[in-house]
Amino acid sequence: MSTPILELHNICKSFGALDALRSLSFHIGQGEVIGLLGDNGAGKSTAVNLISGIHKPTSGHLSVDGKQTLFTCRMDSAEAGIETIYQNTALVDSLSITRNIFMGRERCSGGGFLKLSDMREIAMEVLQSAVHISGIDSPDMLVGELSGGQKQAVAIARAVFFKRRILMLDEPTSALSVRETEALLNQVLRLKAENVSSVFVTHNLYHAYQVCDRFVIMSHGTKVFDVAKADTSISQLTEYVVLT
Ligand SMILES: Nc1ncnc2c1ncn2[C@@H]1O[C@H](COP(=O)(O)OP(=O)(O)OP(=O)(O)O)[C@@H](O)[C@H]1O
Ligand SMILES: [Mg+2]
Repeated sequence: MSTPILELHNICKSFGALDALRSLSFHIGQGEVIGLLGDNGAGKSTAVNLISGIHKPTSGHLSVDGKQTLFTCRMDSAEAGIETIYQNTALVDSLSITRNIFMGRERCSGGGFLKLSDMREIAMEVLQSAVHISGIDSPDMLVGELSGGQKQAVAIARAVFFKRRILMLDEPTSALSVRETEALLNQVLRLKAENVSSVFVTHNLYHAYQVCDRFVIMSHGTKVFDVAKADTSISQLTEYVVLT
């Protein structure tokens, strides 16, 4: 096996007296789509937030490309090539699609002026080539006018353009239409073809089964099952999620 992009080593995370993660270890390989599954309160979002640099572990560590590291803020995780997409992901409703794609990474001229037309052109190209979601025809549309699925498409466009290595998706399909869900799942597969890995948190095992290569099932803050798709079935996964 080649060196995983990201590894969690015995990660513990406590919130006061509550142990949300208890010695959690798993890895994410290049171009691998991982289904992170488990019942409510299992610790999935805590794991996502930890990988996104929002939470610091109480103990344990991460490694990126085999090198031990510590993420102390979101920027650290972003620098390692990780993009996290929540349902109403970190987009600004009052700004255009273009401005959202380039947020924090704006193109500026030597004099410090925003190169709006350059950014607009790139946004248009990314939206047309990488993201095919109906209803987005102009990069000038305000994000506040988009549906949940369209917003996710913008977040994905951002990840594609800035060549992220791992997409973290925490329950991305929970409020999406059937069509938007299909489009999102197709995006995950398209990115996989470009060697981008994803960690897909969901309660919908059918969605997970459609796109994931491997499943990590969590219960009470730790991993109870780690299995390749070829070695399991939806009914076995359901049993693990429900019974552990
Ligand atoms: N910021 C926090 N402060 C205190 N406790 C927290 C915090 N975040 C999560 N927890 C607790 O940690 C545990 C794991 O929560 P987490 O949100 O990771 O679960 P989850 O697997 O994402 O659940 P769900 O499927 O319901 O989203 C829960 O008991 C939760 O109450
Ligand atoms: Mg959660």
